[in-house]
Amino acid sequence: MRLNLNVNGRAMTADDVWEGESLLYVLRERLGLPGSKNACEQGECGSCTVYLDRVPVCACLVAAGQAQDREVGTVEGLADEEELAPVQRAFVDEGAVQCGFCTPGLLVAADDLINRVPEPSDAEIREALAGNLCRCTGYEKIMAAVRTAAERNAGTGISGSTGGDRE
Ligand code: FES
Ligand code: FES
Repeated sequence: MRLNLNVNGRAMTADDVWEGESLLYVLRERLGLPGSKNACEQGECGSCTVYLDRVPVCACLVAAGQAQDREVGTVEGLADEEELAPVQRAFVDEGAVQCGFCTPGLLVAADDLINRVPEPSDAEIREALAGNLCRCTGYEKIMAAVRTAAERNAGTGISGSTGGDRE
């Protein structure tokens, strides 16, 4: 099948796609967007989290055919040309990245949270990130990064996300 979708604001097409292959495979192997990571391919780790029609999903669990004519936002779309998104800057500033394998999925999940909930509580942050597993950290720096991102986001009113500017 020919797959047409909008990724990070750009119309993209992939040919010879099998309907049952995953959206993650399409993004990484057919569209040259390797930011979303494949760690478990079973919906368990969240490293493949992307926005699908502005809702975070595990791209490894979305069949390519389900993405036909829909809007996808990946970690590559979080920053604009000039600067990092608030979540990206905060992860750097708080040292929340070690090996980085979980980071793309965490960034999308955190970006979604801070754009839905301007002042998230620690419980809300934990709940929002519950589907994203990090093998490297004790999560404290990740928590700190999301708090910092939320504070900065609330302070500027800027949404850096592809998917978080919901109406
Ligand atoms: S690779 Fe998709 S949830 Fe782990
Ligand atoms: S930073 Fe290594 S898995 Fe999270």
